[in-house]
Order: sequence, then C-alpha cells, then structure tokens
Amino acid sequence: MFDYRVPALTRRAFITSAAAVSAGAMLPLQPTTYAADIRQFRLRAGLGRAQIAPEPHGDTPIWCYDGSLPGPEIRIRQGERLRVAVENKLDEETTVHWHGLRAPNAMDGVPHLTQAPIAPGETFAYEFDAVDAGTFWYHPHHRSFEQVGRGLYGPLIVEEADPVRVDREVTWVLSDWRLTKTAEMREDFGNRHDMMHNGRVGNTVTINGRVPDVFQVRKGERIRLRLINAANARIFGLDFGSHEPVVIALDGQPIDPHAPESGLVVLGPAMRADVILDMTAAAGSRVSVIDRFYEDLEFRLVDLAYDDNPLRQKAPDWPVALPPNPLPEPDLASAGRHEVTFNGGMMGAMVMQEMGGSMGDMGKDPSDQMGGMMGMTHSGGIWFINGVAAEGHIMDPMLTLARDKSHVIAMTNATAWHHPIHLHGHSFRVISRNGKRTRYREWQDTVLMSPRERLEIALVADNAGDWMFHCHILEHQAAGMMGVFRVA
Ligand code: C2O
Ligand code: CU
Repeated sequence: MFDYRVPALTRRAFITSAAAVSAGAMLPLQPTTYAADIRQFRLRAGLGRAQIAPEPHGDTPIWCYDGSLPGPEIRIRQGERLRVAVENKLDEETTVHWHGLRAPNAMDGVPHLTQAPIAPGETFAYEFDAVDAGTFWYHPHHRSFEQVGRGLYGPLIVEEADPVRVDREVTWVLSDWRLTKTAEMREDFGNRHDMMHNGRVGNTVTINGRVPDVFQVRKGERIRLRLINAANARIFGLDFGSHEPVVIALDGQPIDPHAPESGLVVLGPAMRADVILDMTAAAGSRVSVIDRFYEDLEFRLVDLAYDDNPLRQKAPDWPVALPPNPLPEPDLASAGRHEVTFNGGMMGAMVMQEMGGSMGDMGKDPSDQMGGMMGMTHSGGIWFINGVAAEGHIMDPMLTLARDKSHVIAMTNATAWHHPIHLHGHSFRVISRNGKRTRYREWQDTVLMSPRERLEIALVADNAGDWMFHCHILEHQAAGMMGVFRVA
C-alpha cells in the first residue's frame, strides 16, 4: 500500500533538532519573550534525490527541504508563534515565503523587497504568529520558477482549536514535473515558450512527490483532504467519481460547506482546498480520481482503493463547517476602487483588441502595449500589469492602498490564458465574476482568472508594507506578471 503521508519528522524531532542547533545558528531567545507557545522548526534548503517516477525508473535529482519531497509538514495550532530557521545549502540565494499566511511584512520572504536574500551557507530565522487556521504552504520567492520547479516547497498546516471531526486527515501536495525518459529533470527552466504560453506544465504528475498508484480507504470513512497545488503552472480540476466532495475551505479560509460547481475541485497553482470526502463506494471496489481540467487531456491521478472491511455502513452525520478566522470584513460602501488589467502573452494583441472597447486607456491603443512586447528581446517583458512588465528586483508600488481602509480591486484578464493571481499579506473576498456576484464570497489569497474574465476582490488593507501581487504561474511571474501593492 502506498502511504501518502509526508515522511515528515515528528513534532518532537523537529523541536529537538531545532534546539540542537540553536546555540550556534539562532539568536538565543530572551527569557522575557520566551513563551511556551513558540514553535521552533528548522528547514535546510539543499540538493536531494527523490523517487518521483515509479520504479523501474531511478530517482531524480531535485532541490528540496531537509532531503524530503515535499518538504517536512510544518504543523502548528492557531494562535501559536512560529519560528523557522532556514538554512541555505544551495549554490544560489534563496528565501522562504509563507504562502497565504498573514504575517508581518518583514517575514514575508520576498528578496530585496522585504529582506536581503539568504546567501549560500547562511541562515535566516522567520518568526510570526499564526493568526489564521488553515492549509498553507511554503516555498522560495527567489527565482521561484526554478527553485519551486525543482522541488523546494512544503505544506504548512495551522490547526483550528476546534477542528471538524473526521476519521483521518490527509494532505496531498500536488505537483508536476518535466522529466526525460530516464527520469532526469528537463533543464529547460524559464524558457521563452513556457513563459509566453501556459508555463512549465510537466509530463509527470505527483502526489506528495511520487507518481501515485492507489490510495487506501475504507467504506464509511470520513477524510479531511487538504489539497495544495504546488505546481509551477498546472491547473487541476479533480473529479472524485461517485464521491461527493464537500469544500469546507479555500486557500485555508473557511467557506460555507458546498459541493464544488461543475463537480470538479479546481486548483490553480498555489491554491488550496480543504475537502470533506465521505467514502461511499462499495467495500473492495476502486474509484479513480480523474483530473479533467484541460479538455481532452484528462488523466487518472490515483485510484481510491477500498478495503474489504467497511469502517461503517453509512457516512457519519457530523457537522462539517469550520470556525471562521479573524478576518476584517471589507465595507463595500466606503471602499476605494482600483482597476488592474493584465495583458500580454501569446495572442495577447488579439484579446486586447477584442476587449478594447471597455478597457479604458489601456485598450485604446493596443500598439503601445505591443510596442512594449516588441522590445521584449532586451526587456524580457512578456506579461504586463497595467501596462508594466516587472523587471529586476526593485519595484515601485503600482498601487497604494490606504491602511485599515476597505478596497475593491477590479481585475481584467485581457489575455488568452488562465492566471492564478496572488496577493501577499492579505486574504481577500472574491465578490464578483463577470459582473455577477459570487455565491460564497470566498476568501482567497490566490484567485484563478479565466481568459477574458473580469472579477472584483475586496479587502481591508490592514497589513502595512510593500506586498507582492503576481501571477502564480511562475513563468508568467518571471516574465513580468508581478507588481507591488503598498499598504500605508
Ligand atoms: Cu506563493 Cu508570491 O507566492
Ligand atoms: Cu499567469
């Protein structure tokens, strides 16, 4: 039987190993600030190998945390303070970003914006409170298209004080890889074609770092499945066959429990979903989980393999709603309004012209934008936010949001591609799509935009600092699709 559980160190092992090195690498904690609820971890970014493709393939050289793929699961409880010493054993600079966690700006892990990059051989300690419970993850924010693409990422779970009752809780970190026939990593990271199209979509899909075969379940069992999409570019649309998944959280934030629209659990890169899965098929049977996101490219991700012995005959009737997180509620009546338009990429000119009529200044003269694109041989810009393709490290804010005020950001995807758009430091409500109010007003930190889609998000800008705002298709981000929001 294939065990999906991350081969993580136990909590105790983590604490012990962190304590063992703390004398040298970490500043001693002041007795006055020492609290019993500071949870200490250590992550070492370095080279490793992993059995990604099934045998008889050999293992694949990767970059990873603590020699494991995915990196160790960091699991703490809501309200605890987290301290993670990150040691860089790579040959290049790195940082760690705590994706989706509302941490202070200085702990956000964006090189040159919130901290100096961690040089090879150096250690940087991140420390912040876990204000929200939920399913999060961590990954580098330096040359992410290659560092994440080679395997640097891991789950970060913040438990509710009062979690929903289930028989088993399981984390699936989804990713994909572009491997050669001999299971070596294809080295074409950041190539121009990937950047202009849909990013580095791989040819080998994994759950927790392995190509899965079966996942063992029992009839009547209730599982809380924490799904994390850690892929550079692949979007998943999971079909659980005869099962009826109930979504209870998106991007870590609780949502009214509901069956996903269209039946598919859709996850763009960096997105998470917590799903309650009742195992309702027959004992001894097998049900395939199919990824149907890309038309005509559906494939079997894994089989749910039922044990011959049921756990119980019927699904339990335990409540599934999660307690809310302490998020400030935006006030739409007083909210400031901001417009953000994404364009560029392959076929960008066509979409711009099509949408031009209602795109304001941006759309009136697409040749301006295209001029920018023509110049891309030296600028590298392929994707634009409000007409600017980000370059280099130092970024002036594209938008300043008055602190502690509500804001609505109207976003237009004037491209022919999907984009998972991520804002650091905040969660936002998705309040409308194409002019229609959303049913669940879901809190997200990463929202998947379809080609030509317009949507509105709303938030209270309560976290001061300069925050990245970017597409989480990491090749798009590298090719200009990022900017900075200043909260001041
Ligand atoms: Cu998951 Cu800016 O990152
Ligand atoms: Cu994108």
